Amino acid sequence: MTAVGIDAVEIRTGKLELDLAETFAPAKGEDPGKYTKGLGLHSSSFPDAYEDIVTMGANAAHRLMERKGLEPDDIGRIDVATESAFDNSKPVSTYIAGCLEQVYDGDFHHANKGERKFACVAGTQSIDDAYNWIRAGRHRGRKAIVVATDTALYARGDPGEATQGAGAVALLIGEDPNLVELSPEQGFGSADETDFLKPNQQFPSVDGKRSVQVYLARMREAVEDFESVWGEIEPGDFTLVPFHTPFPGMVRKAALLGFRHITRDTHIEEELAAEIGRQPRAEAFDDEAAFRDAISEYTDKLKETETYAAWYDDVIDPTLTISREVGNWYTGSVHVARVSGLKQALEAGEDLTGERLLVGSYGSGAQAEIHAETVQPGWEDEIAELNVDEQLESRYAISFEEYEHIHDVHNHDTDTQADAEEFTTPDAEFVFDGWGRMGE
Ligand code: CAA
Repeated sequence: MTAVGIDAVEIRTGKLELDLAETFAPAKGEDPGKYTKGLGLHSSSFPDAYEDIVTMGANAAHRLMERKGLEPDDIGRIDVATESAFDNSKPVSTYIAGCLEQVYDGDFHHANKGERKFACVAGTQSIDDAYNWIRAGRHRGRKAIVVATDTALYARGDPGEATQGAGAVALLIGEDPNLVELSPEQGFGSADETDFLKPNQQFPSVDGKRSVQVYLARMREAVEDFESVWGEIEPGDFTLVPFHTPFPGMVRKAALLGFRHITRDTHIEEELAAEIGRQPRAEAFDDEAAFRDAISEYTDKLKETETYAAWYDDVIDPTLTISREVGNWYTGSVHVARVSGLKQALEAGEDLTGERLLVGSYGSGAQAEIHAETVQPGWEDEIAELNVDEQLESRYAISFEEYEHIHDVHNHDTDTQADAEEFTTPDAEFVFDGWGRMGE
């Protein structure tokens, strides 16, 4: 069967940077360690006044098409995943296609365009749609562009404010991919939850503490559902495990529970048992509360073991490097984590061809999805072409006052928008000109 997967990827960050330790923490009267150590974040990306989900998405998709030498006729569908949409009818993909049509001779009239919504998991769902379209043989040899684009902003004073971010990821989905092949096996954990909502409002209403518990619960279900079709996961099966990263501290929690789950009844348990004793089994306890206490005690000890630390450093930590510098990108976040892990491996000179990734996506509301990917022979060239470091280094570092100004601009505060200050200069790219049309 021909391999189907991600052929190439591009990342586009918002052009402004808010330093959490130097700028945000002092203004909030908080210890910087809460952000840098607790949440695991150093800074957030913000869109400048001339940037939004359309311009970031169009710029990412444009670079992707240029780099891969693609013309509009090579593309059969453009799907956009976002939870920052501004229209309940017209999809963001039409705006992005409109931008691209300004710089190509051809058009995208032949391409199917849509917008996917299920909080942060929608980017992965769009990749699924493209995968299924290709597997169904409806693609006529063409590829799909998936754009995951968000301005992940919270109300000022909301606990989520420290986890903000803005950026877009454009992915090319096709046959014989250069980057990763997608596994047909998937696992889901999905339930009706109300911990994170945006009912026709600019900023989300969030029960942050509960959202963490829901993430962990749905992710666990998804792993178990995935194992029911893939077989039991063992610690050495996956070289990298990119997860949805609202902030690295969230992934730290998920990784610990995940490791406890996958080390049950495997060879590594002997090693762990020698360090901290055997993992408690429910059947050994009459009382549910006593079992929970025993598990919690075991998990605390597990966190301190060398076995766990080595696994975490190898398969999880490399996926968090970019996220630490950009914050939450909602739909793009898990795709940033994949790039981060592959980029770290490239820089370390590792050959990942043929190695497997376990990818965990999550969207509030809530749904987790787990699937596997196999790294393809072209991965090094694809990752080497990215300009993520240059983009991150060239961001303009905003003061707290400038942050408040740009936050108001993106809160559709019309008075502020009327004389919105721009902190960087657009440079031959799509920009928002304030009239609902884009220009290059
Ligand atoms: N030094 C070191 N660590 C410190 C510290 C210090 N000085 N001060 C605090 N910390 C630690 C805390 O102990 C805590 O760590 P643990 O979670 O391991 O206990 C961590 O820093 C955060 O501190 P708080 O729990 O006090 O932080 P908070 O309550 O102000 O905010 C939050 C945390 C509720 C998750 C908030 O960031 C939030 O609401 N975020 C938005 C919602 C979110 O991202 N949820 C994640 C799951 S939902 C999802 O994934 C979808 C999505 O994209 C939104």
